[in-house]
Amino acid sequence: MKMELDRPAQRPSRFTIRPMAASDIGAVTRIERSSFATVWPADAFYNELSTNKLAHYFVGTFEDEVVAYGGIWVILEDSHVTTLAVDPQYRGRRFGEVLLLRLIDEAIERGAAWMTLEVRESNAVAQGLYRKYGFTTVTMRAGYYSDDNESALIMWAGSLRSELYRNRLRFLRARVEGSL
Ligand SMILES: CC(C)(COP(=O)(O)OP(=O)(O)OC[C@H]1O[C@@H](n2cnc3c(N)ncnc32)[C@H](O)[C@@H]1OP(=O)(O)O)[C@@H](O)C(=O)NCCC(=O)NCCS
Repeated sequence: MKMELDRPAQRPSRFTIRPMAASDIGAVTRIERSSFATVWPADAFYNELSTNKLAHYFVGTFEDEVVAYGGIWVILEDSHVTTLAVDPQYRGRRFGEVLLLRLIDEAIERGAAWMTLEVRESNAVAQGLYRKYGFTTVTMRAGYYSDDNESALIMWAGSLRSELYRNRLRFLRARVEGSL
């Protein structure tokens, strides 16, 4: 049965989300380099777009410029946020939140019941965003990041299908839409 989604009508905001295309990869890798210590090379994004059937990537545009991107893998009932970043010049404007919401919607639409991600132990900003969307730290992988041996927190959201989580999304969606 197709789940009823609380997807809004097209929002008039100038921040727009669409599936990532190969032509976006130049802009995406520029944001990647200014966002992460260890970066995915352009061909990693090409492979994700062209050969990984489990992968779903999106870009956020503002005034026709790519300013954010994110992606998930959906494997049956499990989904995994593989990456999420906003151009440093555009942070703090709710673009990351709206993009995360889009990734969660996409996962639910594709049948996922669960969502997980890894985040650096020191990345308080991203952890704040994830906690807002119901993610909690379930375990930790020591020395996960090879550049500096930092540990990763492994976070999971509660059941994406539960009434509780759907209500949480409805509330947060209304709030973020009102603030854009
Ligand atoms: C994490 C990231 C995507 C957030 O995007 P953003 O557009 O700047 O964040 P938003 O404006 O949507 O804020 C959403 C939430 O993030 C958290 N947040 C954002 N900026 C913050 C800051 N300066 N300090 C603390 N928390 C912050 C808050 O929880 C905020 O919700 P709130 O304002 O209701 O408390 C962005 O900071 C980024 O690209 N960081 C570098 C890449 C990265 O770390 N990606 C995540 C990898 S796991």
